[in-house]
Amino acid sequence: MFHDAIRLTSGENLPIEMHKVRIVQKLNLLPVEERVTAMANAGFNTFLLQNRDIYMDMLTDSGTNAMSDQQLAAMMVADDAYAGSESFYRLEKAVGEIFNTQYFLPAHQGRAAEHIISQVFIKQGDIVPMNFHFTTTKAHVEYAGGEVVEVFADDALEVKSGKPFKGNIDIDKLKALIRRHGKEKIPYIRLEAGTNLIGGQPFSIENMREVRKVADEHGIIIVLDASLMGENVYFIKMREPEFRNASVKEIFHTMCGLADIVYCSFRKLGCARGGGISTNNSELYRKMRDLVPLFEGFLTYGGTSVREIEAIAVGLREALDWDVIKHSPEFIRYFVDSLNAQGVPVLTPAGGLGCHLDANGFLPHLKHSDYPAGALGAAVYIVAGARGMERGTISTDRDAAGNDVPADVELLRLALPRRVFTLSQIKYLEDRLKWLYENRNLVGGLRFVEEPKILRFFLGRLEATSDWPQKLAAKFRADFGDSL
Ligand code: F0G
Repeated sequence: MFHDAIRLTSGENLPIEMHKVRIVQKLNLLPVEERVTAMANAGFNTFLLQNRDIYMDMLTDSGTNAMSDQQLAAMMVADDAYAGSESFYRLEKAVGEIFNTQYFLPAHQGRAAEHIISQVFIKQGDIVPMNFHFTTTKAHVEYAGGEVVEVFADDALEVKSGKPFKGNIDIDKLKALIRRHGKEKIPYIRLEAGTNLIGGQPFSIENMREVRKVADEHGIIIVLDASLMGENVYFIKMREPEFRNASVKEIFHTMCGLADIVYCSFRKLGCARGGGISTNNSELYRKMRDLVPLFEGFLTYGGTSVREIEAIAVGLREALDWDVIKHSPEFIRYFVDSLNAQGVPVLTPAGGLGCHLDANGFLPHLKHSDYPAGALGAAVYIVAGARGMERGTISTDRDAAGNDVPADVELLRLALPRRVFTLSQIKYLEDRLKWLYENRNLVGGLRFVEEPKILRFFLGRLEATSDWPQKLAAKFRADFGDSL
């Protein structure tokens, strides 16, 4: 049966778990003073923290989701073969079931699929329109000589919004772009499900149909990034009246039927570790196929262990279960709505993937050049032992002239890996975030001390522009006494 969260007698909606926890991992919560030291040692970059120093790892939902008993069981019967592995055929079948596609190419993760697609279809000077870029997508489009142009609606970047489909493409902007550059310069239109960098926001099927119409008028193909498609499907069912009574599978099939190529990071959808490309078009399939053995591995494993291949196959079938799909967006909505009700600046409406703190709203006294989202990431770790991911100016590389490019939205993403955290952990974090917001004036800026040229957010090292981390920790200690 299709149901939303459980309603309590108080009227509150509680996102109860439709699973139980049977394997656990011990966590550490360091004292606040040690968290300051760990953050400094990590160059104020949450990517460089060590997991043993982290209480809630909310860096990403990529490859960190809880796996089911069925997935773990399937891993035990994996068929190890360089070529012709039974495990691969089981995955190929599962991909066909969920995406309704005939051909499948494995790749070791989502960006490897992006690499193949970009190398095959993009030539120097091409333009790739999309609802919004993802970091690895943009890097691969540019590496192949192309340019990303985002054609989202004007209000898609509003941090406080009630707009249900911020991930939609603005059809007029898309048409104007095609007119301006000509269809020959546009190898494909990319649609990202659960648009990651603007806060896990979905697009509607109504919008996708309109994009399809434009694409058909010009003979341009559509590439769908399905990495966050589970959550996009959830929002379509909840927010798009036509699909209220449709099954999860029907929504998946409708969306994939409107695309020519569907690619995916199975680190998100599928709750294991891998990636791949699927299509119903044999010509497109053949164009991409030859690059798989060159960059990934033979066609029946594509750089992925057969054990993971088995886990993905089961994970994809489980993604057709409403109880599995709804868990994460409902937990996120609970977290986001509680913070919002307490006045903590969060991106709304709640999307898939995680809770996004609005760093500009949180730390209005900081300038772009202070890297507010990075500073907020350091502060959240110091006060709560939780690590998020900077999704702002640090995640945007400098332009060709070497200038910082202020990000459209300055966010700290607190990802909720699927089925990993309990509600008491979420409530603890809510409390610490509220305290941090009340003490926001103590948070200062960051500056780079070591800055890679490409994807600098991964390995860049920064320092605090003053002794604000120590002062923040001292205030924490004064307010919380001997509590961790
Ligand atoms: N597309 C989207 C929408 C993604 O969110 C990601 C990864 C990729 C492609 C690349 O996939 O990591 O398997 O190579 N997102 C991760 C994140 C890294 O943390 O959001 P990958």
